[in-house]
Amino acid sequence: MKKNQTLFINARLATMTGESGYGVVEDHGLLVEADRIIWIGLMSERQTRVETEPEVIDCQGKLLTPGLIDCHSHLVYGGDRADEFELRLEGASYEEISRAGGGIKSTVKATREATQQSLLYSAKKRLKPLLEEGVTTLEIKSGYGLDSETEIKMLRVAKQLETDCSVRIKKTFLGAHALPEEYTNRSDDYIDLVCNQMLPEAHSAGLVDAVDVFIEKIAFTIDQAQRVFDCADALGLPVKAHVEQLSDMGGAVMVAKRKALSVDHIEYLTKDDVTTLAENNTVAVLLPGAFYVLRETKLPPIEALRANGVSMAIATDANPGSSPVHSLLLIMNMACTLFRLTPTEALRGVTINAAKALGLNKELGSLSVGKQADLVLWDVDKPAMLSYQIGLNPCAAIMKAGVWRKPLETCNDR
Ligand code: NIG
Ligand code: FE
Repeated sequence: MKKNQTLFINARLATMTGESGYGVVEDHGLLVEADRIIWIGLMSERQTRVETEPEVIDCQGKLLTPGLIDCHSHLVYGGDRADEFELRLEGASYEEISRAGGGIKSTVKATREATQQSLLYSAKKRLKPLLEEGVTTLEIKSGYGLDSETEIKMLRVAKQLETDCSVRIKKTFLGAHALPEEYTNRSDDYIDLVCNQMLPEAHSAGLVDAVDVFIEKIAFTIDQAQRVFDCADALGLPVKAHVEQLSDMGGAVMVAKRKALSVDHIEYLTKDDVTTLAENNTVAVLLPGAFYVLRETKLPPIEALRANGVSMAIATDANPGSSPVHSLLLIMNMACTLFRLTPTEALRGVTINAAKALGLNKELGSLSVGKQADLVLWDVDKPAMLSYQIGLNPCAAIMKAGVWRKPLETCNDR
């Protein structure tokens, strides 16, 4: 019986295998069967079998990479924060706006008022440019509901995006994102609600893959985060956290010691604390979009992360306040320009290291036999082109789990 196979030939493969570098191989073919990569090797060594007759894709020297992974986003929300953008231009800080009841809280109001249908519609519009850039896996957090009903509504939308849009979605519960108005001065009571009602309900609806907490002066303390993580542990859910974004609260060390998947933001993480991430194999998720939008000047401790061999991922942090960014290629450029990552680190940050940040690195993130066939073909010959250019999307073809999302349009102009 003829099997469903696709053979890529004449591509330059950035396999993203190995501890560093792009893992580039030339003259190799890559064979996909069903949703898996089943062979990578020199074309001269390929043994053809009569029963297989794959569709052959001549890549004409283009670059083939794993599908891109955006491992930190808040893509589902109601309303927008253009007014806050204007206030910041007049001099107000993100923290001041938050303390005055704006910021996350204003998005909570709009999200509570929105229907599931309208949230799905607006999220699809934001997802589209990411998909067109070859994003095949995306993490989406709740956290603009701050009550059971709305958190679940957000997570259902995230799940629906996966059904509708040829993309794998990882759903993260972020009930402890901000203190809702109705719990003013009762933050411990709100954490009780998160632990005893919101998280268990969302989990039993099958809507939670991981649990996140925002540890910050304008959000929750280390002790409160520990309580949420204890509940996550009891449900067998992995944890991660927004830490050291605006100040050094010591969140990253606590979270890393709990064997978290990742610590995210970390501008205010000290060099000395980086060793704890290394010891616990925690991924550092860097979010240059929020750094840029908030005009932050404190850089994350990149040199120390590099020196200690901490895996660095980068992500859009797509959200209405601190990072209204819908381009992972732009984030790669920002990571290089603002954080001085190398283009190699930037591409690792949206492939293998982003997969690790989601606990999916056995399944995704590199071109390896046995992994899922999430592939992007780029009309460039050097991987650094992906980080170097701004506002130009060279994506030529996208395959998601062995199925074409965007087939290669053949032309003979090379
Ligand atoms: O990752 N830091 C907290 N949460 C988001 C911002 C959310 C918002 O401003 O709406 C972030 O930057
Ligand atoms: Fe975030």
